[in-house]
Amino acid sequence: MKLLYEKHVKGSNYFRFPLQDLPEIDLQETLPEEHWRETPLGLPELSEVEAVRHFTALSKRAFGVDDGMYPLGSCTMKYNPKLGEYAARLPGFAHIHPYQPVETAQGALELMYELSLMLSQIGGMDAFTLQPAAGAHGEATGIMIIRAYHKHRGEDEQRRVILVPDSAHGTNPASAANVGYEIRVVKSNERGRVDLEDLKAKLGPDVAGLMLTNPNTLGLFETDILEISRLTHEAGGLLYYDGANLNAIMGVARPGDMGFDVVHYNLHKTFATPHGGGGPGSGPVGVKKFLEPFLPSPVVIKNDCGGYELDDDRPLSIGKVKTFYGNFGVCVRAYAYILSLGCEGIKRACQHAVLNANYIRKQLADDYDFPIDELCKHEFVCAPKKLEGGSDVHTLDVAKRLIDFGYHPPTIYFPLIVDEAIMIEPTETETKERLDDFIAAMKQIAKERRETPDVVKAAPHGTVVKRLDETRAARNPILKYEEPLS
Ligand SMILES: Cc1ncc(COP(=O)(O)O)c(C=O)c1O
Repeated sequence: MKLLYEKHVKGSNYFRFPLQDLPEIDLQETLPEEHWRETPLGLPELSEVEAVRHFTALSKRAFGVDDGMYPLGSCTMKYNPKLGEYAARLPGFAHIHPYQPVETAQGALELMYELSLMLSQIGGMDAFTLQPAAGAHGEATGIMIIRAYHKHRGEDEQRRVILVPDSAHGTNPASAANVGYEIRVVKSNERGRVDLEDLKAKLGPDVAGLMLTNPNTLGLFETDILEISRLTHEAGGLLYYDGANLNAIMGVARPGDMGFDVVHYNLHKTFATPHGGGGPGSGPVGVKKFLEPFLPSPVVIKNDCGGYELDDDRPLSIGKVKTFYGNFGVCVRAYAYILSLGCEGIKRACQHAVLNANYIRKQLADDYDFPIDELCKHEFVCAPKKLEGGSDVHTLDVAKRLIDFGYHPPTIYFPLIVDEAIMIEPTETETKERLDDFIAAMKQIAKERRETPDVVKAAPHGTVVKRLDETRAARNPILKYEEPLS
């Protein structure tokens, strides 16, 4: 498909700006001459209809949950009910301006206040900030709060290490390292859980905290979580909960009750707001009472008259982590989602997510290998079956072949502790018929791998582009059109 620049036809854009009705400004005075452009901007010219067709064609090549099942483990790509879109588009929310006086934004502040209360109740926490814009941003914010806490106690110099399990999502060590911590890895045991003996060996007076996701990235619940929490706290560290997997426990168990001191959720995963390329994210961070003074400011508070205010008189706060108050539109969608489900609905969603994952896991038992074959939570990890005499059809090939059956490939080669990992998370929003269809596709691919391996190796067959050089795309992306426009 041609780029917009390659479709450029000089003079084809008839758009004209309306005549100015503002006083002329003296450019010399407003903008120093060294900042003036010397050459034209070099934007392509297209007629409106050609531009619309270009973007419509591009949108038809995208794949999202509204197109089909998107079993991307570790990412909860569930269907986003359109009710959330409706709510976020209500003019009172959509047209609000962050510089509006608070007296004129009471509804929005009330929503933020109420959402924080709901998130606290769901997680067993005491207070939340809605500022962080994504999961990884939430992690960095949470770790900054942990650091501020140790600093306040005069222990920051001594506590320089954050522990992460070897199954951790890459953002965990990256976020902690960004905040300035040294990373120490804790091993998993043969059951895929934190190895308690290794944890004991890695804990010490230099540890600031331990980051965990529960269930972990193998979809397994950390059954020793209370002991993990006890050991970490005994060593003076704090416990951080990566809430990317909250869908597996919401309404049933709470990180706050497990001993976590700081949590982040991914509203764009668990609370059904658009994810990834579908829109901005939101990674609210919740804390226990003793950490509340360190939350980013401002915090929405309710005053004695029942009105809402933005409180930024917080001397221990880590400061602002995002312009204004977070991605407000995402918060509106999450609020609508939580209200529409209610307490019972949230619990049912979680139970169905777990049921769906276990249904697929059981159905695939004869066709795929399961490194840890036990009841999972919302997702599970499998691998292509080891074949007698070996096979040169790998996980990547299986994932690419799924595209031919109309499915977005699952997460692959993660977590790193499992060879040839395929990580599947169906979520609660898929029907039994869709799950059966997906299972049939996975079984068919396993059969092809044994009988007609070339079909799998050459996949995908029905797409506009075949196998892309993913390393080159990641390392040397071409983000700029350099050719002159004629
Ligand atoms: C386990 C886990 N933690 C953290 C993150 C980071 O979330 P985000 O992509 O919103 O930054 C992810 C997302 O992929 C994840 O799966």
